[in-house]
Amino acid sequence: MFKLSSRFVALVALIPFAVAQQAEWDQCGGIGWTGGTTCVSGTVCTVMNSYYSQCLPGTAAPPPPTSPPTSTPTAPSGGAPPSSATALNTIAKSKGKLYFGSATDNPELTDTAYTTILDDNTMFGQITPGNSMKWDATEPEQGVFTWTGADQIANLAETNGQLLRGHNCVWYSQLPSWVSSSGFTAAQLTSVIQTHCGTLVGRYKGQVYSWDVVNEPFNDDGTWRSDVFYNTLNTEYVSIALNAARTADPNAKLYINDYNIEGPSAKTTSMQNLVKSLKAANVPLDGIGLQGHFIVGELPSGIEDNLRAFTALGVEVAFTELDIRMTLPSTAALLAQQSTDYETVVSACAAVEGCVGVTIWDYTDKYSWVPATFPGQGAACPWDQNLQRKPAFQGIINGWNS
Ligand code: G3I
Repeated sequence: MFKLSSRFVALVALIPFAVAQQAEWDQCGGIGWTGGTTCVSGTVCTVMNSYYSQCLPGTAAPPPPTSPPTSTPTAPSGGAPPSSATALNTIAKSKGKLYFGSATDNPELTDTAYTTILDDNTMFGQITPGNSMKWDATEPEQGVFTWTGADQIANLAETNGQLLRGHNCVWYSQLPSWVSSSGFTAAQLTSVIQTHCGTLVGRYKGQVYSWDVVNEPFNDDGTWRSDVFYNTLNTEYVSIALNAARTADPNAKLYINDYNIEGPSAKTTSMQNLVKSLKAANVPLDGIGLQGHFIVGELPSGIEDNLRAFTALGVEVAFTELDIRMTLPSTAALLAQQSTDYETVVSACAAVEGCVGVTIWDYTDKYSWVPATFPGQGAACPWDQNLQRKPAFQGIINGWNS
Protein backbone atom coordinates (compact mmCIF):
# COMPACT_ATOMS: atom_id res chain seq x y z
CA MET A 1 0.00 0.00 0.00
CA PHE A 2 1.23 3.49 -0.89
CA LYS A 3 2.42 5.28 2.21
CA LEU A 4 2.93 9.05 2.42
CA SER A 5 6.09 10.21 3.99
CA SER A 6 5.59 12.43 7.01
CA ARG A 7 7.48 15.17 5.18
CA PHE A 8 5.04 15.06 2.23
CA VAL A 9 2.05 15.15 4.57
CA ALA A 10 3.44 18.23 6.28
CA LEU A 11 3.96 19.91 2.90
CA VAL A 12 0.47 19.09 1.69
CA ALA A 13 -0.97 20.43 4.92
CA LEU A 14 0.75 23.71 4.22
CA ILE A 15 -0.46 24.10 0.63
CA PRO A 16 -3.96 25.45 1.32
CA PHE A 17 -2.51 27.93 3.75
CA ALA A 18 0.20 29.04 1.34
CA VAL A 19 -2.27 29.37 -1.55
CA ALA A 20 -4.74 31.30 0.60
CA GLN A 21 -2.25 33.91 1.78
CA GLN A 22 -3.42 37.22 0.35
CA ALA A 23 -0.97 40.06 -0.18
CA GLU A 24 -1.33 43.47 1.43
CA TRP A 25 -4.33 45.36 -0.13
CA ASP A 26 -5.68 42.14 -1.74
CA GLN A 27 -9.27 41.03 -1.32
CA CYS A 28 -9.62 38.41 1.41
CA GLY A 29 -13.36 37.92 1.76
CA GLY A 30 -16.87 39.09 1.09
CA ILE A 31 -20.08 37.65 -0.25
CA GLY A 32 -19.31 35.58 -3.34
CA TRP A 33 -15.56 35.64 -2.73
CA THR A 34 -13.99 32.24 -3.32
CA GLY A 35 -10.34 33.20 -3.04
CA GLY A 36 -8.02 33.14 -0.09
CA THR A 37 -9.14 34.53 3.22
CA THR A 38 -5.85 34.67 5.10
CA CYS A 39 -3.59 37.68 4.86
CA VAL A 40 0.18 37.84 4.84
CA SER A 41 1.95 38.57 8.07
CA GLY A 42 1.62 42.16 9.22
CA THR A 43 -1.79 42.64 7.61
CA VAL A 44 -5.28 41.85 8.79
CA CYS A 45 -8.30 40.81 6.78
CA THR A 46 -10.61 43.76 7.33
CA VAL A 47 -14.30 43.92 6.44
CA MET A 48 -14.87 46.92 4.18
CA ASN A 49 -18.45 45.92 3.47
CA SER A 50 -20.43 42.72 3.16
CA TYR A 51 -19.05 42.17 -0.31
CA TYR A 52 -15.45 43.12 0.20
CA SER A 53 -12.80 42.40 2.78
CA GLN A 54 -9.26 43.53 2.26
CA CYS A 55 -5.81 42.79 3.74
CA LEU A 56 -4.87 46.02 5.47
CA PRO A 57 -1.74 46.75 7.41
CA GLY A 58 -2.04 47.01 11.17
CA THR A 59 -4.94 46.72 13.51
CA ALA A 60 -7.32 43.89 14.24
CA ALA A 61 -10.47 43.70 12.21
CA PRO A 62 -14.02 42.58 12.89
CA PRO A 63 -14.91 39.05 11.73
CA PRO A 64 -15.82 38.61 8.07
CA PRO A 65 -19.52 38.62 7.19
CA THR A 66 -21.33 35.32 7.18
CA SER A 67 -24.59 36.35 5.58
CA PRO A 68 -25.89 38.85 3.06
CA PRO A 69 -26.88 42.28 4.34
CA THR A 70 -30.35 42.57 5.76
CA SER A 71 -32.48 45.53 6.66
CA THR A 72 -31.50 45.03 10.30
CA PRO A 73 -29.25 47.88 11.38
CA THR A 74 -25.71 46.78 12.05
CA ALA A 75 -22.72 48.51 13.54
CA PRO A 76 -21.52 51.05 11.01
CA SER A 77 -18.15 49.74 9.86
CA GLY A 78 -18.13 52.87 7.73
CA GLY A 79 -17.45 54.75 10.96
CA ALA A 80 -14.14 53.03 11.51
CA PRO A 81 -11.16 55.24 10.75
CA PRO A 82 -10.29 54.72 7.10
CA SER A 83 -6.83 53.50 6.25
CA SER A 84 -4.78 55.18 3.56
CA ALA A 85 -6.20 52.60 1.17
CA THR A 86 -9.82 53.49 1.88
CA ALA A 87 -9.78 57.21 2.66
CA LEU A 88 -11.48 58.50 -0.48
CA ASN A 89 -10.37 62.12 -0.15
CA THR A 90 -6.80 61.15 0.64
CA ILE A 91 -6.73 58.96 -2.44
CA ALA A 92 -8.26 61.68 -4.64
CA LYS A 93 -5.68 64.19 -3.44
CA SER A 94 -2.87 61.73 -4.04
CA LYS A 95 -4.03 61.68 -7.66
CA GLY A 96 -3.74 65.46 -7.93
CA LYS A 97 -7.40 66.30 -7.28
CA LEU A 98 -8.63 68.92 -4.84
CA TYR A 99 -11.21 66.79 -3.09
CA PHE A 100 -13.61 63.92 -2.86
CA GLY A 101 -16.71 65.26 -1.15
CA SER A 102 -20.30 64.77 -0.15
CA ALA A 103 -23.46 66.80 0.06
CA THR A 104 -25.11 66.95 3.43
CA ASP A 105 -28.19 68.56 4.91
CA ASN A 106 -28.94 70.17 8.25
CA PRO A 107 -31.51 67.68 9.61
CA GLU A 108 -28.97 64.88 9.23
CA LEU A 109 -26.42 66.56 11.44
CA THR A 110 -28.07 65.32 14.64
CA ASP A 111 -27.27 61.74 13.58
CA THR A 112 -23.92 61.13 15.23
CA ALA A 113 -23.26 57.84 13.42
CA TYR A 114 -23.72 59.81 10.20
CA THR A 115 -21.59 62.78 11.23
CA THR A 116 -18.78 60.55 12.46
CA ILE A 117 -18.22 59.51 8.87
CA LEU A 118 -19.05 62.89 7.31
CA ASP A 119 -16.64 64.77 9.56
CA ASP A 120 -13.64 62.69 8.59
CA ASN A 121 -11.69 64.84 6.17
CA THR A 122 -9.60 61.93 4.96
CA MET A 123 -12.85 60.48 3.62
CA PHE A 124 -14.56 63.73 2.58
CA GLY A 125 -12.42 66.75 1.85
CA GLN A 126 -15.37 68.84 0.77
CA ILE A 127 -19.04 69.26 1.65
CA THR A 128 -22.00 70.92 -0.07
CA PRO A 129 -25.21 71.99 1.66
CA GLY A 130 -27.98 70.09 -0.09
CA ASN A 131 -30.62 72.72 0.66
CA SER A 132 -29.66 75.38 3.16
CA MET A 133 -27.95 77.86 0.83
CA LYS A 134 -30.81 77.86 -1.66
CA TRP A 135 -32.91 80.97 -2.21
CA ASP A 136 -35.92 79.80 -0.19
CA ALA A 137 -33.64 79.11 2.77
CA THR A 138 -31.51 82.25 2.62
CA GLU A 139 -33.85 85.02 1.46
CA PRO A 140 -37.40 83.76 2.06
CA GLU A 141 -38.71 87.33 2.00
CA GLN A 142 -37.22 90.16 0.02
CA GLY A 143 -34.33 91.64 1.94
CA VAL A 144 -34.77 89.24 4.87
CA PHE A 145 -31.76 86.95 4.97
CA THR A 146 -31.69 83.85 7.15
CA TRP A 147 -28.39 82.12 7.65
CA THR A 148 -28.94 79.54 10.37
CA GLY A 149 -28.77 76.43 8.21
CA ALA A 150 -26.16 77.75 5.81
CA ASP A 151 -23.95 78.95 8.64
CA GLN A 152 -24.17 75.57 10.32
CA ILE A 153 -22.76 73.82 7.28
CA ALA A 154 -20.18 76.52 6.55
CA ASN A 155 -19.00 76.24 10.16
CA LEU A 156 -18.95 72.46 9.91
CA ALA A 157 -16.69 72.61 6.87
CA GLU A 158 -14.37 74.97 8.69
CA THR A 159 -14.31 72.84 11.85
CA ASN A 160 -13.65 69.71 9.83
CA GLY A 161 -11.01 71.28 7.61
CA GLN A 162 -13.12 70.60 4.51
CA LEU A 163 -13.62 72.68 1.39
CA LEU A 164 -17.10 74.11 0.92
CA ARG A 165 -19.08 74.27 -2.32
CA GLY A 166 -21.83 76.88 -2.35
CA HIS A 167 -25.12 75.69 -3.82
CA ASN A 168 -26.67 77.86 -5.26
CA CYS A 169 -27.47 81.49 -6.18
CA VAL A 170 -29.95 81.36 -9.05
CA TRP A 171 -32.24 78.40 -9.68
CA TYR A 172 -35.81 78.08 -10.83
CA SER A 173 -36.59 75.60 -8.03
CA GLN A 174 -36.86 76.22 -4.29
CA LEU A 175 -37.44 79.80 -5.29
CA PRO A 176 -39.76 81.88 -3.11
CA SER A 177 -42.88 83.17 -4.78
CA TRP A 178 -41.83 86.74 -4.06
CA VAL A 179 -39.17 86.21 -6.74
CA SER A 180 -41.09 84.04 -9.17
CA SER A 181 -44.47 85.77 -9.01
CA SER A 182 -43.93 89.46 -8.31
CA GLY A 183 -43.92 90.54 -11.91
CA PHE A 184 -40.60 92.33 -11.55
CA THR A 185 -39.39 94.43 -14.45
CA ALA A 186 -36.02 93.57 -15.96
CA ALA A 187 -34.37 96.33 -13.97
CA GLN A 188 -36.01 95.22 -10.74
CA LEU A 189 -35.11 91.56 -11.24
CA THR A 190 -31.53 92.53 -12.06
CA SER A 191 -31.33 94.29 -8.74
CA VAL A 192 -32.97 91.34 -6.95
CA ILE A 193 -30.40 88.93 -8.40
CA GLN A 194 -27.51 91.25 -7.61
CA THR A 195 -28.67 91.68 -4.04
CA HIS A 196 -29.29 87.99 -3.51
CA CYS A 197 -26.10 86.65 -5.10
CA GLY A 198 -23.98 89.47 -3.74
CA THR A 199 -25.24 89.03 -0.19
CA LEU A 200 -25.13 85.23 -0.25
CA VAL A 201 -21.69 84.92 -1.81
CA GLY A 202 -20.40 87.83 0.26
CA ARG A 203 -21.45 86.23 3.54
CA TYR A 204 -19.19 83.26 2.88
CA LYS A 205 -16.37 85.22 1.26
CA GLY A 206 -13.14 83.34 1.75
CA GLN A 207 -14.96 80.22 2.96
CA VAL A 208 -16.29 78.77 -0.28
CA TYR A 209 -14.08 77.06 -2.81
CA SER A 210 -16.67 77.19 -5.59
CA TRP A 211 -20.20 78.45 -6.09
CA ASP A 212 -22.92 76.99 -8.28
CA VAL A 213 -23.91 80.51 -9.28
CA VAL A 214 -26.41 79.38 -11.89
CA ASN A 215 -28.11 76.02 -11.52
CA GLU A 216 -29.85 74.06 -14.27
CA PRO A 217 -30.39 76.79 -16.91
CA PHE A 218 -31.26 74.39 -19.74
CA ASN A 219 -34.00 71.97 -20.67
CA ASP A 220 -32.89 68.51 -21.78
CA ASP A 221 -33.43 69.44 -25.43
CA GLY A 222 -30.89 72.24 -25.06
CA THR A 223 -33.35 75.10 -25.06
CA TRP A 224 -33.28 77.61 -22.25
CA ARG A 225 -35.46 76.75 -19.30
CA SER A 226 -38.49 78.94 -19.09
CA ASP A 227 -38.43 80.52 -15.65
CA VAL A 228 -38.74 83.99 -14.18
CA PHE A 229 -35.08 84.73 -14.83
CA TYR A 230 -35.03 83.77 -18.49
CA ASN A 231 -38.50 85.07 -19.19
CA THR A 232 -37.65 88.48 -17.75
CA LEU A 233 -33.99 88.93 -18.63
CA ASN A 234 -33.38 86.45 -21.42
CA THR A 235 -29.90 84.94 -21.10
CA GLU A 236 -28.57 88.10 -19.43
CA TYR A 237 -29.44 86.80 -15.99
CA VAL A 238 -26.46 84.45 -16.17
CA SER A 239 -23.90 87.22 -16.51
CA ILE A 240 -25.73 89.38 -13.96
CA ALA A 241 -25.43 86.59 -11.39
CA LEU A 242 -21.83 85.72 -12.26
CA ASN A 243 -20.70 89.34 -12.08
CA ALA A 244 -22.43 89.85 -8.74
CA ALA A 245 -20.77 86.72 -7.36
CA ARG A 246 -17.33 87.76 -8.60
CA THR A 247 -17.68 91.17 -6.98
CA ALA A 248 -18.76 89.60 -3.70
CA ASP A 249 -15.93 87.05 -3.51
CA PRO A 250 -13.21 87.55 -6.12
CA ASN A 251 -11.45 84.33 -5.10
CA ALA A 252 -14.34 81.88 -5.26
CA LYS A 253 -14.55 79.72 -8.35
CA LEU A 254 -17.77 80.47 -10.18
CA TYR A 255 -19.67 77.58 -11.76
CA ILE A 256 -22.71 76.85 -13.83
CA ASN A 257 -24.14 73.51 -12.76
CA ASP A 258 -26.48 71.15 -14.59
CA TYR A 259 -27.51 67.52 -15.13
CA ASN A 260 -27.54 65.47 -18.33
CA ILE A 261 -24.43 67.22 -19.59
CA GLU A 262 -22.09 64.36 -18.64
CA GLY A 263 -22.03 62.96 -22.17
CA PRO A 264 -22.71 64.32 -25.63
CA SER A 265 -26.25 65.71 -25.89
CA ALA A 266 -28.16 68.73 -27.11
CA LYS A 267 -28.00 70.09 -23.59
CA THR A 268 -24.24 69.58 -23.47
CA THR A 269 -23.84 71.47 -26.73
CA SER A 270 -25.91 74.34 -25.36
CA MET A 271 -23.78 74.45 -22.23
CA GLN A 272 -20.61 74.49 -24.29
CA ASN A 273 -21.97 77.30 -26.42
CA LEU A 274 -22.86 79.23 -23.28
CA VAL A 275 -19.31 78.80 -21.96
CA LYS A 276 -17.92 80.08 -25.26
CA SER A 277 -20.16 83.12 -25.33
CA LEU A 278 -19.51 84.01 -21.69
CA LYS A 279 -15.75 83.65 -22.16
CA ALA A 280 -15.90 85.75 -25.33
CA ALA A 281 -17.73 88.46 -23.40
CA ASN A 282 -15.26 88.32 -20.48
CA VAL A 283 -17.97 87.28 -18.05
CA PRO A 284 -16.38 85.62 -15.02
CA LEU A 285 -16.82 81.86 -15.23
CA ASP A 286 -14.41 79.30 -13.82
CA GLY A 287 -16.14 75.97 -13.91
CA ILE A 288 -18.89 73.73 -15.13
CA GLY A 289 -20.51 71.37 -12.66
CA LEU A 290 -21.72 68.07 -14.03
CA GLN A 291 -24.24 66.89 -11.50
CA GLY A 292 -24.02 63.19 -12.33
CA HIS A 293 -27.43 61.88 -11.30
CA PHE A 294 -27.21 58.54 -13.09
CA ILE A 295 -29.08 55.26 -13.36
CA VAL A 296 -27.22 51.98 -12.85
CA GLY A 297 -26.14 50.53 -16.18
CA GLU A 298 -27.14 53.63 -18.09
CA LEU A 299 -24.13 55.90 -18.02
CA PRO A 300 -23.68 58.01 -21.12
CA SER A 301 -20.71 57.00 -23.23
CA GLY A 302 -17.77 59.31 -23.68
CA ILE A 303 -17.73 60.86 -20.22
CA GLU A 304 -13.98 61.44 -20.24
CA ASP A 305 -13.99 63.01 -23.71
CA ASN A 306 -16.87 65.17 -22.60
CA LEU A 307 -14.88 66.45 -19.63
CA ARG A 308 -12.01 67.26 -21.96
CA ALA A 309 -14.35 69.10 -24.33
CA PHE A 310 -15.37 71.39 -21.49
CA THR A 311 -11.87 71.96 -20.17
CA ALA A 312 -10.72 72.81 -23.69
CA LEU A 313 -13.02 75.84 -23.45
CA GLY A 314 -11.02 77.19 -20.52
CA VAL A 315 -13.09 76.04 -17.55
CA GLU A 316 -12.47 73.49 -14.85
CA VAL A 317 -15.01 70.74 -14.30
CA ALA A 318 -16.26 68.71 -11.36
CA PHE A 319 -18.86 66.07 -10.70
CA THR A 320 -20.97 67.97 -8.24
CA GLU A 321 -23.90 65.71 -7.31
CA LEU A 322 -22.93 62.16 -8.19
CA ASP A 323 -25.29 59.32 -7.38
CA ILE A 324 -26.32 56.24 -9.33
CA ARG A 325 -29.78 54.95 -8.60
CA MET A 326 -31.41 51.63 -9.33
CA THR A 327 -34.86 50.08 -9.36
CA LEU A 328 -35.39 48.50 -5.96
CA PRO A 329 -34.83 46.03 -4.48
CA SER A 330 -31.09 46.09 -4.92
CA THR A 331 -29.47 42.83 -5.96
CA ALA A 332 -25.86 41.67 -5.96
CA ALA A 333 -25.81 42.15 -9.73
CA LEU A 334 -27.15 45.70 -9.52
CA LEU A 335 -24.70 46.56 -6.76
CA ALA A 336 -21.84 45.16 -8.83
CA GLN A 337 -22.92 47.18 -11.87
CA GLN A 338 -23.28 50.24 -9.67
CA SER A 339 -19.73 49.74 -8.46
CA THR A 340 -18.53 49.56 -12.05
CA ASP A 341 -20.47 52.71 -12.87
CA TYR A 342 -18.99 54.65 -9.96
CA GLU A 343 -15.58 53.49 -11.07
CA THR A 344 -16.25 54.69 -14.62
CA VAL A 345 -17.26 58.17 -13.49
CA VAL A 346 -14.43 58.60 -11.00
CA SER A 347 -11.84 57.26 -13.41
CA ALA A 348 -12.97 59.81 -16.00
CA CYS A 349 -12.33 62.59 -13.51
CA ALA A 350 -9.02 60.99 -12.54
CA ALA A 351 -7.92 61.00 -16.17
CA VAL A 352 -8.70 64.65 -16.92
CA GLU A 353 -6.42 67.23 -15.41
CA GLY A 354 -9.06 69.96 -15.30
CA CYS A 355 -11.49 67.80 -13.32
CA VAL A 356 -10.90 69.06 -9.80
CA GLY A 357 -13.03 66.69 -7.76
CA VAL A 358 -16.08 64.54 -7.25
CA THR A 359 -18.95 65.23 -4.85
CA ILE A 360 -21.53 62.56 -4.11
CA TRP A 361 -25.05 63.79 -3.40
CA ASP A 362 -24.88 62.58 0.15
CA TYR A 363 -22.88 59.52 0.96
CA THR A 364 -25.59 57.26 2.35
CA ASP A 365 -28.89 55.88 1.09
CA LYS A 366 -30.30 56.86 4.46
CA TYR A 367 -30.46 60.49 3.35
CA SER A 368 -30.63 60.25 -0.42
CA TRP A 369 -33.12 62.46 -2.25
CA VAL A 370 -33.86 59.68 -4.75
CA PRO A 371 -36.69 57.59 -3.21
CA ALA A 372 -38.85 60.65 -2.57
CA THR A 373 -38.47 61.83 -6.15
CA PHE A 374 -38.44 58.48 -7.97
CA PRO A 375 -40.74 56.08 -6.11
CA GLY A 376 -39.45 52.52 -6.39
CA GLN A 377 -35.89 53.65 -7.03
CA GLY A 378 -33.03 54.28 -4.67
CA ALA A 379 -29.87 52.70 -3.24
CA ALA A 380 -27.98 55.35 -5.18
CA CYS A 381 -25.15 56.09 -2.75
CA PRO A 382 -21.89 54.29 -1.89
CA TRP A 383 -22.98 53.67 1.72
CA ASP A 384 -26.25 51.85 2.42
CA GLN A 385 -28.98 53.04 4.74
CA ASN A 386 -27.23 51.41 7.69
CA LEU A 387 -24.08 53.39 6.89
CA GLN A 388 -22.34 50.28 5.61
CA ARG A 389 -20.07 50.57 2.62
CA LYS A 390 -21.40 49.04 -0.57
CA PRO A 391 -19.43 47.65 -3.52
CA ALA A 392 -19.64 51.14 -5.01
CA PHE A 393 -17.21 52.26 -2.33
CA GLN A 394 -14.55 50.00 -3.80
CA GLY A 395 -15.56 51.19 -7.27
CA ILE A 396 -14.65 54.74 -6.26
CA ILE A 397 -11.27 53.58 -4.97
CA ASN A 398 -10.69 51.69 -8.21
CA GLY A 399 -11.67 54.79 -10.19
CA TRP A 400 -9.11 56.99 -8.47
CA ASN A 401 -6.46 54.31 -8.84
CA SER A 402 -7.20 53.69 -12.50
O1 G3I B 1 -38.19 72.37 4.15
C1 G3I B 1 -39.39 71.59 4.00
C2 G3I B 1 -39.93 71.24 5.36
O2 G3I B 1 -40.32 72.41 6.03
C3 G3I B 1 -41.11 70.28 5.18
O3 G3I B 1 -41.55 69.84 6.44
C4 G3I B 1 -40.72 69.07 4.35
C5 G3I B 1 -41.89 68.15 4.07
O4 G3I B 1 -41.68 67.36 2.94
O5 G3I B 1 -40.20 69.50 3.12
C6 G3I B 1 -39.05 70.32 3.27
O6 G3I B 1 -38.59 70.69 2.01
C7 G3I B 1 -37.93 69.66 1.27
C8 G3I B 1 -36.50 70.11 1.02
O7 G3I B 1 -35.85 69.18 0.19
C9 G3I B 1 -35.71 70.25 2.31
O8 G3I B 1 -35.64 69.03 2.96
C10 G3I B 1 -38.66 69.48 -0.03
O9 G3I B 1 -39.94 68.91 0.21
C11 G3I B 1 -37.88 68.57 -0.95
O10 G3I B 1 -38.48 68.56 -2.22
C12 G3I B 1 -36.47 69.09 -1.07
O11 G3I B 1 -35.75 68.19 -1.90
C13 G3I B 1 -34.50 68.67 -2.33
C14 G3I B 1 -34.52 68.88 -3.84
O12 G3I B 1 -33.23 69.27 -4.28
C15 G3I B 1 -35.53 69.94 -4.25
O13 G3I B 1 -35.44 70.18 -5.60
C16 G3I B 1 -33.46 67.62 -1.98
O14 G3I B 1 -33.35 67.52 -0.56
C17 G3I B 1 -32.12 68.02 -2.57
O15 G3I B 1 -31.19 66.98 -2.37
C18 G3I B 1 -32.29 68.26 -4.06
O16 G3I B 1 -31.05 68.65 -4.59
C19 G3I B 1 -31.05 68.91 -5.99
C20 G3I B 1 -29.98 69.97 -6.24
O17 G3I B 1 -30.24 71.10 -5.44
C21 G3I B 1 -29.93 70.35 -7.71
N1 G3I B 1 -29.77 69.19 -8.55
C22 G3I B 1 -30.70 68.11 -8.32
C23 G3I B 1 -30.69 67.70 -6.86
C24 G3I B 1 -31.61 66.51 -6.62
O18 G3I B 1 -32.93 66.84 -6.89
